[in-house]
Amino acid sequence: METQRGEKEIEKRVKFAGKKEEFLRQGRSKLSTIQATPVKRLCNMHSTITVNGQFPGPTLEVNNGDTLVVKVVNRAQYNVTIHWHGVRQMRTAWADGPEFITQCPIRPGGSYTYRFTIQGQEGTLWWHAHSSWLRATVYGALVIHPKEGTAYPFPKPKRQTPILLGEWWDANPIDVIRQATRTGAAPNASDAYTINGQPGDLYKCSNQDTTIVHVDSGETNLLRVINSGLNQQLFFSVANHKFTVVGADASYVKPFTTSVLMLGPGQTTDVLITANQPPARYYMAARAYSSAQGAPFDNTTTTAILEYKAAPCPAKGVKINPAFPSLPAFNDTATATAFTSSFRSASKVQVPTEIDEDLFFTVGLGLNNCPAGASSSSCQGPNGTRFTASMNNVSFVLPSNFSLLQAHHQGIPGVFSTDFPSSPPVKFDYTGNVSRSLWQPISATKVYKLSYGARVQLVLQGTSIVTAENHPIHLHGYDFYILAEGFGNFNPQTDTSKFNLVDPPLRNTASVPVNGWSVIRFVADNPGIWLMHCHLDVHITWGLAMAFLVENGVTELEAVEEPPVDLPVC
Ligand code: C2O
Repeated sequence: METQRGEKEIEKRVKFAGKKEEFLRQGRSKLSTIQATPVKRLCNMHSTITVNGQFPGPTLEVNNGDTLVVKVVNRAQYNVTIHWHGVRQMRTAWADGPEFITQCPIRPGGSYTYRFTIQGQEGTLWWHAHSSWLRATVYGALVIHPKEGTAYPFPKPKRQTPILLGEWWDANPIDVIRQATRTGAAPNASDAYTINGQPGDLYKCSNQDTTIVHVDSGETNLLRVINSGLNQQLFFSVANHKFTVVGADASYVKPFTTSVLMLGPGQTTDVLITANQPPARYYMAARAYSSAQGAPFDNTTTTAILEYKAAPCPAKGVKINPAFPSLPAFNDTATATAFTSSFRSASKVQVPTEIDEDLFFTVGLGLNNCPAGASSSSCQGPNGTRFTASMNNVSFVLPSNFSLLQAHHQGIPGVFSTDFPSSPPVKFDYTGNVSRSLWQPISATKVYKLSYGARVQLVLQGTSIVTAENHPIHLHGYDFYILAEGFGNFNPQTDTSKFNLVDPPLRNTASVPVNGWSVIRFVADNPGIWLMHCHLDVHITWGLAMAFLVENGVTELEAVEEPPVDLPVC
């Protein structure tokens, strides 16, 4: 019954790839096929892992309240899972997607059907592979329109355009991370950034295919900007135009005006842009916000073109370059911070004021000494070490024989322990000159248990170990309020005065400032196992993750549903 209703809903409302027919045809049997597809970028052809042969993958358009049924068929040579980034997945943790957390991977030749309902979320989310580095190319937008019969809290824009910022390697991304895992060194930075899959005019062999966004003079377009890049925070601007920010991570915000956005991987920002300039072509551009001092990064710039329909055609042989936006310097933390701290929820919100769980997690990098007997080729991190990363000195290790959720649900012992610490085992000057003896975390699969309904406050404290850096911390299965952020060590005596308890933004990914902290709150009202991690994939690879185990409540409606029959096993 549920299922049938679900599929009906989808027939009615979901447009996949903007082509209703195609979606419907695929809807029942093979909605999304993961497959290798030839993709040419930067003059070179690659066998790229895609969804339905499309790169980026298809845009899913739904309404708040819709139930989605998405069958994923894996015809690639790698294990894969799909994560619906930011979807709350109330009671449907089995459909969340991170491999070995809520499901075992879909093996080559296998399939799995994700079923879940969008509840109370409107704006822009996205979906991506959650297995190794496949999300470098396996990703797409998830556009959530207002509930049927309700309106946007702003004048309905004439057009809406997803803007997916991505990262491209002139190599197989899986090889890039495999090599880094072997050597212990940092993986190569990307070779290009992309807008809707295209690097744009500043890269070799690219300007024929630059993404073009059309506008009519005077009209307002809603840009749904998503940082779907792997490892890099990005600034984004459009020449001669300002943005009005109206939403982020599928929640509405109090509108504010800015000429530059900064998004960490995982974050989305909805902005209105009005075509109020002389009809012409204007560049939109994105490049790195790189907060880690001295670390190599991709310093290239991706572009697309905002083209007024009435833009005059240049006379024959005359080349008119579109105006170029001014982008902040790569290390412009002041601009990044001014932007991330401008967000307010659109209306007053219910922030928990009593706290049951007062948590403090350090987040940062580390270096493991070369294990005895290891070859030097496997210890090519700084000074013969291997890179690692941790929260509260625990470097997270994925299980391999069961998913955490399956182990929890079926009571299988030995897969994880529930002793993730609520505060760092050793207190130190987190953002100061940290003693070398504190650089090496332990490796383990530990979760932190929350009772159903617990009101949680969590201080995310960046560290300066190896290098301080802005970390986009993402929590699965929840949105959380960001009460405050700041630099240095969080001070519980004085920094609580900065808490916004009136209209803090509701997000699923917090940009924890470089050498600083963010304080978040949420109510543990969604049972299951929920991964929390840095959304820089290289940091997840190194262990910058943990998971919450949220227990079932008393009634059936407060418990995780039974697992789907086709749930992949390990
Ligand atoms: Cu967007 Cu754990 O992911």
